[in-house]
Amino acid sequence: MNPQQVQLPTPSPEALISSQTLCQQIAEQIDLAGGWISFADYMRAAMYTPGLGYYSGGATKFGGAGDFVTAPEISPLFGGSVAATLAHVLAETGGAILEVGAGTGQLAAQILLELERRQTLPEHYAILELSGQLRERQRQTLHTLAPHLLAQVVWLDELPTDFIGVIVGNEVLDAMPCELVQFSEHQWQQRGVTVGSNGFAMANRPISNPKLAAACAPLPQIPLYTSEIHLEAQGFIAALAQSLQRGMILLFDYGFPASEYYHPERSMGTLIGHYRHHTIHDPFYYPGLTDLTCHVDFSAMYTAADIHGLSLEGYTSQASFLLDAGILSLAEQLDTESIDYMKTAAAIQKLTTNAEMGEIFKAIAFSKGLEGDTAPGLRGRDRSGEL
Ligand SMILES: C[S@@+](CC[C@H](N)C(=O)[O-])C[C@H]1O[C@@H](n2cnc3c(N)ncnc32)[C@H](O)[C@@H]1O
Repeated sequence: MNPQQVQLPTPSPEALISSQTLCQQIAEQIDLAGGWISFADYMRAAMYTPGLGYYSGGATKFGGAGDFVTAPEISPLFGGSVAATLAHVLAETGGAILEVGAGTGQLAAQILLELERRQTLPEHYAILELSGQLRERQRQTLHTLAPHLLAQVVWLDELPTDFIGVIVGNEVLDAMPCELVQFSEHQWQQRGVTVGSNGFAMANRPISNPKLAAACAPLPQIPLYTSEIHLEAQGFIAALAQSLQRGMILLFDYGFPASEYYHPERSMGTLIGHYRHHTIHDPFYYPGLTDLTCHVDFSAMYTAADIHGLSLEGYTSQASFLLDAGILSLAEQLDTESIDYMKTAAAIQKLTTNAEMGEIFKAIAFSKGLEGDTAPGLRGRDRSGEL
């Protein structure tokens, strides 16, 4: 069913005003820029404008009352399993954990509680989060779920230098502004946003950024083929590489290698919106109230990591990662007669089956200066050859 044909929940009057204010600000930004901004600039404004953007404003975002659900929100066993990998690496490196883009703080609480159970708590648990509203929510979640460990959590304003330990992030890369490109009039063009008579509209321009032009070169030259290029996410990987002195970077997200991402049949790209658990195909639908996201090109992430001195430690499906990291053993510790166990079994199915999140979500790990055995989670089916 076309989601635009179903009756979507109407935003509250306050939310509507917030979205209208954001639209005015973006329109002014477009005007100041001479009538056109790149799609990445539009997405950045729609998602991260302080107080008004999707992540930086008041939208509920996560869970049943929000727009989407992420793995740590589905089961604490996600973070419990990730903790097995982190414990393994920290045993070799010492140091700390740094979580990037921590959402509601569920993953942080899950990891800290499992590491406490294993008696392997790190020096501290740092969080780098762009959204001030989410920082506060993370603090509240940790206060509720792990109050005795809150003192070990620190919030950073920028990436640390010479970081030792593990950097972890779930669904951060997909939330980063991406460039949109289209093959039109026999050349690759950069898609951007203008203000038309009916509000925001897409408009193409010839590509002037050489990095963007180079990234388009291998894409299929099919008239009106449209896709995304993840320059900001690549820059983020480069920044993580510079920050890490020794240890691992472990990232989870939905996406594919380049051969699958830029398949001739994927001619419309992967950009979508999420609004109250509906998929939205119009990127201008209630800016600031609709999550915008695109899948991750893991080959591009690997290239960025490789160029900046990281080694590929593993690339696998989320299902393979969680099963190898011990999600089933964690479930076995529950009372099998309990309602909790039933809920957990359903959650494990959602996280690991191919039809749900098991295959489309991937785990990718990069390392610097590690010499020990492969960490739990990465000893299953390695798919690095696909990158
Ligand atoms: C889709 S949410 C995922 C949240 C959480 N990790 C989870 O799994 O529920 C994306 C998160 O990444 C954050 N984020 C996006 N870009 C970021 C950046 N450059 N640095 C730090 N956090 C970022 C957002 O504010 C948000 O918390």
